[in-house]
Amino acid sequence: MRTAKISALGTYVPPGILTNEQLSKMVETNDTWIQERTGIRERHIADASIATSDMAIAAAKVALEKRGIAASEVGVIILCSVTPDTMFPSTACIVQHALGATGAWGFDLVAACSGFLYGLTVGANLVASGAHRYVLVLGADTMSRIIDYTDRSTCILFGDGGGAFLLEPSEDAASEGGYIGHLNEIDGAGAPFLNMPAGGSRLPASAETVAKRQHYVKQEGQQVFKYAVKKMADLSEALLAKHGVSAADVKLLIPHQANRRIITATAERLGMPLERVMINLDKYGNTTAATIPLATNDAIMEGRLKKGDLVLFAAVGAGYTAGASLWRWAF
Ligand code: UT7
Repeated sequence: MRTAKISALGTYVPPGILTNEQLSKMVETNDTWIQERTGIRERHIADASIATSDMAIAAAKVALEKRGIAASEVGVIILCSVTPDTMFPSTACIVQHALGATGAWGFDLVAACSGFLYGLTVGANLVASGAHRYVLVLGADTMSRIIDYTDRSTCILFGDGGGAFLLEPSEDAASEGGYIGHLNEIDGAGAPFLNMPAGGSRLPASAETVAKRQHYVKQEGQQVFKYAVKKMADLSEALLAKHGVSAADVKLLIPHQANRRIITATAERLGMPLERVMINLDKYGNTTAATIPLATNDAIMEGRLKKGDLVLFAAVGAGYTAGASLWRWAF
């Protein structure tokens, strides 16, 4: 049955690095606390010249070059981000123009840390339906632009980066590799626990919103933590059951990278040993829509993901948004 496969990927992280040691000079924290509670050692931070589109463009160029196709062959660009260059136009338009993707349409997709998985779901179905041949799914976030570096409970968590998956048709997931299925879910009851209060139509930018630091990420960490562990495990289990496979069949779980403890608790619930779980947040922190492509890229570089492997992606983010997506790796 026709489906979509991931045929190339690309990533980009800005060169600047912010270490735990440096953060401990900015707020009252320390390397031991951060490593024990989150697993993060350092994160990449974009300098003032780099915006989200720049990272998305760089990652997309790598993916196109690896696949050896021209940008003009791309049919759709799905740009997943909570930190677009501007509220409008869509950052997807900026990326389309810079790439020279003259045949493409596209849009921005806002689903926070589940954004990339939602982009994959949409992209896979646009390809599987026969509507488009090449779809670029991009996840990029410049979280450092919306992080309050006086708030120790959030500033230690996030970093900047971008990633790209190129999707194209596959005749059959079992033999050629490709998309098998997904389970996505949103629950707006979680909205108060992770958000950026101002800058939208509810609370437009004003001198007061700036003075109250309302253009920064606000989070009730423990609420999000509990929800993340439960949902990533529940959706993963339900998705595997739906497709008649067990956790033992999954070669690699690639979860959203928010907190090492969330990942290990999820893996434990699924009964998956850590050898089959991708963790690279020590190097990047939580890059929101970019964690899954960054983790997938590292998995390939480390030889942990090969053609034919069953791979399970899972994520939870602000909203709440949550999702799990099952693929057979195609290259
Ligand atoms: O992608 C989805 C987005 N976000 C997430 O998935 C994040 C989910 N949440 C988390 O990862 C964790 O809840 C955090 C890492 C944010 C916090 O870890 P925690 O184990 O839940 O800590 P806590 O909030 O319960 O705080 C414990 C203590 C508090 O002090 P008291 O009240 O016990 O005296 C905090 O004030 O740790 C304190 N604390 C810190 N201490 C040193 C909070 N942040 C820091 C810090 N350094 N950076």
